[in-house]
Amino acid sequence: MLRTHHCAQLTAADLGAKVSLVGWVDSVRDHGGIIFVDLRDRKGVTQVKFDSAIREQAAALKDESVIGITGVVAPRPAAMINRNLPTGEIEVDASALTVHNMADTPPFPLTDAGGDKVNEDLRLTYRYLDLRRPKMLKNLQVRHRVAKSIRDYFDSQEFIEVETPALFKSTPEGAREYLVPSRIHPGQFYALSQSPQQFKQILMVAGVEKYFQIARCFRDEDLRADRQMEFTQVDVEASFIDREGIYSLFEGMLKKVWKDVLNHDLPTPFPRMAFHDAMNRYGVDKPDVRFGLELQDFTELFKTSAFKVFASTATGGGSVKALNAKGLADLTQGEIKNLEEVAKSLGAKGLAFIKVEGGEWKSPIVKFFTDAEKAALTQRLGITDGDMIFFAAAPWEQACAILGRIRLEAAQLLVKRGKLTLRPDDWKFLWVVDFPLMSYDEERGGYAATHHPFTAPVPEDAALLDSDPKKVRGQHYDVVLNGMELGGGSIRIHQPALQKKVFEDVLKIPADVVESRFGYMLKAFTYGAPPHGGIAFGLDRMCALLCGTTSIRDVIAFPKTQKGQCLMTQSPTPVTEKQLKELHIRTVLPE
Ligand code: AMO
Ligand code: AMP
Repeated sequence: MLRTHHCAQLTAADLGAKVSLVGWVDSVRDHGGIIFVDLRDRKGVTQVKFDSAIREQAAALKDESVIGITGVVAPRPAAMINRNLPTGEIEVDASALTVHNMADTPPFPLTDAGGDKVNEDLRLTYRYLDLRRPKMLKNLQVRHRVAKSIRDYFDSQEFIEVETPALFKSTPEGAREYLVPSRIHPGQFYALSQSPQQFKQILMVAGVEKYFQIARCFRDEDLRADRQMEFTQVDVEASFIDREGIYSLFEGMLKKVWKDVLNHDLPTPFPRMAFHDAMNRYGVDKPDVRFGLELQDFTELFKTSAFKVFASTATGGGSVKALNAKGLADLTQGEIKNLEEVAKSLGAKGLAFIKVEGGEWKSPIVKFFTDAEKAALTQRLGITDGDMIFFAAAPWEQACAILGRIRLEAAQLLVKRGKLTLRPDDWKFLWVVDFPLMSYDEERGGYAATHHPFTAPVPEDAALLDSDPKKVRGQHYDVVLNGMELGGGSIRIHQPALQKKVFEDVLKIPADVVESRFGYMLKAFTYGAPPHGGIAFGLDRMCALLCGTTSIRDVIAFPKTQKGQCLMTQSPTPVTEKQLKELHIRTVLPE
């Protein structure tokens, strides 16, 4: 080794020892001819003093150069002691200096604060410098600890980690797939695996019983702060397990990770909420339950209302819902306008509101309300002075979704006014359960699986598959934390006939397509498939939360930008004609 110690190690206990250190020059200071270098490695910083013949060489060092030094541990003068550093009482009096590499001036300061101020594109272009910042290095370390904690947990539960292929076949279901051309089979393609879903189920048929994998997944979707084109799942599948078994297995994992990484005791079991309640009360299937502002339903009340918009929606099968944004009567015209835009982007025809100020209801629609209607609103919404009430009249799911978004926006406006605090470490986990197995896609005019087509119906509802698929609940569950979907899974269909029925009769996939895409799976199920189920968790999202950042890019060493580019390596790039020819591919560029 080129070093005897790391840069956070030496203390007064080492005084007089001869040591060698290596690392990066954090700073160089000239104090009247004596040169001080803060030498940094991944553990910390040690002050090195150059007072001998080599001081001229030391004075020429530039920040971020890589050096090695040998010297003797000496006490710092009392005035120079730094109690904030583990090495703050000593310095190394250097007698030898090796310059491994001089560095150019970095394009941005490599401190936490310095990097936070610059454009993220610059950080991604020079990711190797960005990762030198203490908090980025810490994020990588946290991610390592999370992965280790998860592996230890599943190992202790007798699960085994099995790797499954990244090169899979095209079975388009959820997100768009990445295709990989085959050189050996002209005109044929692999698809990069969107998740190990089908392989993990096959592993259950294979008798593995307890599988997990920290698996890379690929999805060609529009990128956002919480979405990357390649991301990592904690993927799990087990045989002879029911929903309760999955809940306690995963609660155990989360409890261990939070304890190992944050030394925090998560209370378990997590609360559970039916999908229908989540939509009704929070307007979304991943509710942030750190605050109230719950939605209320007034469909019955407004069936006879003089306000025709509400009355016609209520009598025509739709819903009228309202939300009390408590304490937001001081919204500006501009803020109200923004909220209307948000509502309209979700298809709302309008966003009726009542401002409750100075004992008065200020609203263009209040003139239509009877005293009985006003009394019902006051009572059920707990209206007091200073409140702001919003209404949505639309089909049930849309009315929920509109007010669900307005609820989140209102919370942000309350935070801005100092009237609400939302702590990211207020860990409000919950299971969202009882999702409908199928959702009806109006545009396509057919059913689509809410989770995926392998999800088993709730046994009591299975009979409705033929008559009314909408009413069938799936054995599907999501883990939600503070408004984010962290994971999801289901108990699967293990009977080949039922799986075939879902593909062909409910999802209306033609029999020959079912055979070519899923034939191997249906066949596997005919050789003794155990009942099984599982779940997958977004590792990147979990690490982001544990690191206290909102972007998963901060916990991925080499992420892509929103536009799907790697700025450091400059990918994607064109390739040569020769490469394309070998792959039997011709490109046609858009105009
Ligand atoms: P699902 O598609 O819900 O389920 O994915 C599981 C979890 O993976 C995370 N996730 C993502 N994270 C970052 N970037 C993305 N583009 C991205 N897409 C998904 C989310 C999500 O909750 N095979 C099923 C699971 C199962 O049924 O067992 C599946 O993949 O945190
Ligand atoms: P109008 O009668 O169209 O002038 O609408 C009166 C108020 O009701 C306005 O504030 C509209 O934004 C609002 N509004 C109209 N349609 C709806 C709807 N479907 N849901 C909620 N509010 C609406």
